[in-house]
Amino acid sequence: MTDAPILHILNGPNLNLLGVREPEIYGADTLADIEARCASKASELGWGLVFTQTNHEGVLIDQVQGARGAVALIINPAAYTHTSIALRDALAIVSAPKIELHLSNTHAREGFRQVSHVSPVVDGVISGFGASGYLLAIEAARALASARGAG
Ligand code: DQA
Repeated sequence: MTDAPILHILNGPNLNLLGVREPEIYGADTLADIEARCASKASELGWGLVFTQTNHEGVLIDQVQGARGAVALIINPAAYTHTSIALRDALAIVSAPKIELHLSNTHAREGFRQVSHVSPVVDGVISGFGASGYLLAIEAARALASARGAG
């Protein structure tokens, strides 16, 4: 029997406060609500799930490196999207399908949010669909993984 493919969903700074943090922008769902929906969707696909959140850039980079064997990687890097070349470099090392995810439409917001150091090294970006973006990202991850003969 082979081990189940593992999907990694990584969340960056301040996303631990979803539900409380600027709900008019990020919605009323907590990260625990979102994690529960992702776990159920991953299990429908026969995938295991690693779901993490950190407020620390170096920890997020360790988690990206730890996703090198994943069937796919979905990352909401939060503010590190716009600032972290180290995060971009870590993502470039991961050969699994990679999706950048944002709850809000970063292109409709402040100018500094319209710059992403991450976008050039991922397969695609999902932005502006709120919490349901996580489930859309899992669908996209499945399509990318099966196109590569994985998952
Ligand atoms: C975010 C958008 C980022 O600009 C912001 O810094 C976040 C959350 C989003 O999910 O919409 O923390 O990644």
